[in-house]
Amino acid sequence: MWTIDDIGDQTGRVALITGANTGIGYRTALALARRGARVVLACRDEGRGRAAAARIGAGAEVRRLDLTSLASIRAFELGHDRLDLLVNNAGVMIPPYGLTGDGFETQIGVNHLGHFALTGLLLDRLLATPGSRVVTVSSNAHKRGVIDLDDLHFARRRYVPMTGYAQSKLANLLFTHALQRRLEAAGAGTLSVAAHPGAARTELMRHSPAHFRLVVSRRTRWLFSWLIQDEEPAAYPTLRAATDPGATGAAYYGPDGWGEFTGRHPVLVGTAPAVADTALQDRLWAHSQRLTGVSYALVASESRFAEHLAVPAAPTDEQCLGRNA
Ligand SMILES: NC(=O)c1ccc[n+]([C@@H]2O[C@H](COP(=O)([O-])OP(=O)(O)OC[C@H]3O[C@@H](n4cnc5c(N)ncnc54)[C@H](OP(=O)(O)O)[C@@H]3O)[C@@H](O)[C@H]2O)c1
Repeated sequence: MWTIDDIGDQTGRVALITGANTGIGYRTALALARRGARVVLACRDEGRGRAAAARIGAGAEVRRLDLTSLASIRAFELGHDRLDLLVNNAGVMIPPYGLTGDGFETQIGVNHLGHFALTGLLLDRLLATPGSRVVTVSSNAHKRGVIDLDDLHFARRRYVPMTGYAQSKLANLLFTHALQRRLEAAGAGTLSVAAHPGAARTELMRHSPAHFRLVVSRRTRWLFSWLIQDEEPAAYPTLRAATDPGATGAAYYGPDGWGEFTGRHPVLVGTAPAVADTALQDRLWAHSQRLTGVSYALVASESRFAEHLAVPAAPTDEQCLGRNA
């Protein structure tokens, strides 16, 4: 049974965690720093990032990163030659309809496309670091997800916030698998794995209806502890995915409790059948490359994965806003 005490010494390792100023990302960074890692907190609000780094203390640094902007992602400076661990953690859930600066629906833009671009741009550093890992944080909600590659941004269908969130979280797992297949084909030692935190009391619920925020608030903690857990144990699946020497490619960890909602001993958990659909993985990959302009120079014969490359053009802002304003 894995416990938090199983995390080995992280001295000398560099870990980059997106959205690390609060919630699960903060808890992940804190635990890694306590075991000696140098943690780089990639935050859109540098002030909040600095406050988090001050709470963590030695070993924490802040870098600005706004996942709604490809320009910000391209401008991101890691400041280290090595990268042992990239944790694609930042996320938004059920915001009002909106587009990123690059015209992507906010949830697919931040949760998937931003991380797709960031990972691709940092790949050379990951490949050059022995034993490196990419951990992508998904959700139980991926099981309700459907990827609509013809209308990823809700230009032609009505925007249903949870449909958008579930789509983005399914994209996280398809990306995890697609990246792992490409790493293996290239003979690279870098591992692509995933985790989900169950249900946690974090700021993620900021756009949720009032009754839902009450359920996840500290005031009702005594009543719903079987369903919703505190931030710290919610980070354990990510921490296991990040550090367990026994993890294998595309492993997916979640809480061990009932319904995978809570638990202190993360275990390997199952995914929706769609995650194993390699054609869907490859179509999303090609689509993501096209939308972000980031190509992974990983496999000389990328075409071997490109069986379904009919990528529809991204809708214009006007199309999206006209439909969803
Ligand atoms: N909480 C849960 O029950 C739950 C369940 C399943 C999956 N998850 C997943 O767990 C991950 C962490 O969520 P959390 O619960 O810790 O939520 P959280 O407390 O709201 O933290 C989310 C983090 O992402 C950052 N972020 C949001 N938009 C960003 C952007 N455009 N660029 C850079 N950073 C951005 C936030 O920054 P700001 O502080 O500046 O907003 C914050 O640091 C997410 O991927 C989420 O989908 C959470």
